[in-house]
Amino acid sequence: MIYNDYFTYDKKLWSNWKVHRDFISKVILDKIICKNSDVKSIAIFGAGFCNDIDLNFFTNNFDIVTLLDINKESMEKGIQMQDLSSEELSKINTIGGFDFVGQSQDIYSDFEKLLINKTPIKKIKKFIRDKARLVNSIDVKIPEMENHSVVISVGVHSQLSIGFNLLISKYMNYYTRKELLDLESELRYYNTLLAKKFNDILIDYADIALFSGYDAIEISKERNNQFLLPRVIDLVKNADVRKLSELMLSNGVTGAIQGFCDINQRLLDKGKVYHEYYNKGKIALNFWIWTFNENKVYVIFATTAFKECF
Ligand SMILES: C[S@@+](CC[C@H](N)C(=O)[O-])C[C@H]1O[C@@H](n2cnc3c(N)ncnc32)[C@H](O)[C@@H]1O
Repeated sequence: MIYNDYFTYDKKLWSNWKVHRDFISKVILDKIICKNSDVKSIAIFGAGFCNDIDLNFFTNNFDIVTLLDINKESMEKGIQMQDLSSEELSKINTIGGFDFVGQSQDIYSDFEKLLINKTPIKKIKKFIRDKARLVNSIDVKIPEMENHSVVISVGVHSQLSIGFNLLISKYMNYYTRKELLDLESELRYYNTLLAKKFNDILIDYADIALFSGYDAIEISKERNNQFLLPRVIDLVKNADVRKLSELMLSNGVTGAIQGFCDINQRLLDKGKVYHEYYNKGKIALNFWIWTFNENKVYVIFATTAFKECF
């Protein structure tokens, strides 16, 4: 499976991602657990190797902790690495091996065949558009999954169809830059639909609250925008939503931007009530920096919302 080649185990990530992991736990503690004593279970979508998930924290604060990921082995490895007690382990269950938004994994082998055969971009775009037409008609039922008090996902919206990007970088020499940009814009449309669908799924499975983190801004060597870092650190420190959102439009990550905008638009559609909920702490926005590796950082835009706000 293409995901298994991309998301591989790296021992260093547990220590490198500590600040990011602690932010996730702290926001969930402050914005959800401290505000509602009825939260008993939590579902964590995109748990992967659990480098951003402090299982000790979650098992101490919830009776049931359900981890979900397309890659079941990664979760097993992640759990094993956190050296938990048998009592903590007894609270964790994993659900893996399926795609959150109902994509068939054949989609990637079919796409790869098109690239290998140097199929004209127009035809590849049609292939993606045909898949996009199906997105909303697929009824996603996660096997053995029940509703949980809290549902969370961090850094997943941008990864939902990462297989396409991986294959494009493998065969990029077959196409001109203009053709690749054309293909990227078609994929952006597809990702927008997936990000919205994933939000539907997260909201549906949450009984009390949803916490969703988006790797919305990328500052990296690859993007040649590392000069922005001091400014970004300042904006994050001041939680300057307006300026961070502007930066997101020019330095944003596909899938993450759309996911973030969609979830907040759903909340804003409630008009005046949004501000009432916000003032009561039923909606919260948090920003922090995720040092992904030595060449790349993301700004996480995180939205917490209690179910009644939707
Ligand atoms: C960026 S990682 C999140 C980090 C992860 N929690 C960790 O600590 O390793 C995104 C995770 O989402 C999973 N994922 C991405 N797209 C998916 C999809 N369409 N369906 C199910 N899982 C998916 C990946 O397998 C990966 O483990």
